[in-house]
Amino acid sequence: MHYKLKIFRFHPEQDARPHYQHFELDADPTERVLDVLEQIRGEQDGTLAFRRSCAHGVCGSDAMRINGRNYLACKVLLRDLNAAEITIEPILGLRVVKDLIVDMEPFFDHYKSVLPYLINDDPLPADGRERLQSPEDRERFDDTTKCILCAACTTSCPSFWANGEYVGPAAIVNAHRFIYDSRDQGAEKRLEILNEQMGVWRCRTAFNCTEACPREIKITQAIAEVKRAIHTGKLE
Ligand code: SF4
Ligand code: F3S
Ligand code: FES
Repeated sequence: MHYKLKIFRFHPEQDARPHYQHFELDADPTERVLDVLEQIRGEQDGTLAFRRSCAHGVCGSDAMRINGRNYLACKVLLRDLNAAEITIEPILGLRVVKDLIVDMEPFFDHYKSVLPYLINDDPLPADGRERLQSPEDRERFDDTTKCILCAACTTSCPSFWANGEYVGPAAIVNAHRFIYDSRDQGAEKRLEILNEQMGVWRCRTAFNCTEACPREIKITQAIAEVKRAIHTGKLE
């Protein structure tokens, strides 16, 4: 099938402003958008810049806006888009470094701000075994362990577009992962952080984040659980 692509281009050191470049190619509808980008870079314009690593939906490096919606380019097939004309742009709300590459540092700063690691000052069990947990306790936070930090959620959130200081859904998902871990002792501190001005209350339940997540994490539900925990002072 014949496809027409309109791709966002911007090289801040050379261009006064961004522009779109048009490409055309033949591709099988079962190919992924990432394959097409590789084909363009290999055969038509070697200067096109985008991030990719695993090509299998695991590393989270190729989130981009495809026909107005955030996707991982390696997970979306051309036929899924139901269109012969495809517009590809960088994810919104983060500074463009070049073409489809954005500066992820502010995103990772928000992630780090919620203490996304196990906090437990108790000595390890004397028998040298790991800290044990029941299957039910493990299940409680299973959904939020699936995050691959691709930023598709945070950069589709209107509250984040309005104010980049908002910690954003990805950070809240990763806080949730530890807040509800029965082995962790840092929930109180994380809830304090998320109760601040740029924390969970900036979420207006827009659901864009949940729709954008390539891991199908129930993000809005996780945010609601964190809000409830702050409100009631209890972890359910
Ligand atoms: Fe990506 Fe989903 Fe994690 Fe957000 S919650 S960073 S969309 S994997
Ligand atoms: Fe934004 Fe998701 Fe809340 S899109 S407003 S974080 S439900
Ligand atoms: Fe790794 Fe797409 S390249 S998730």
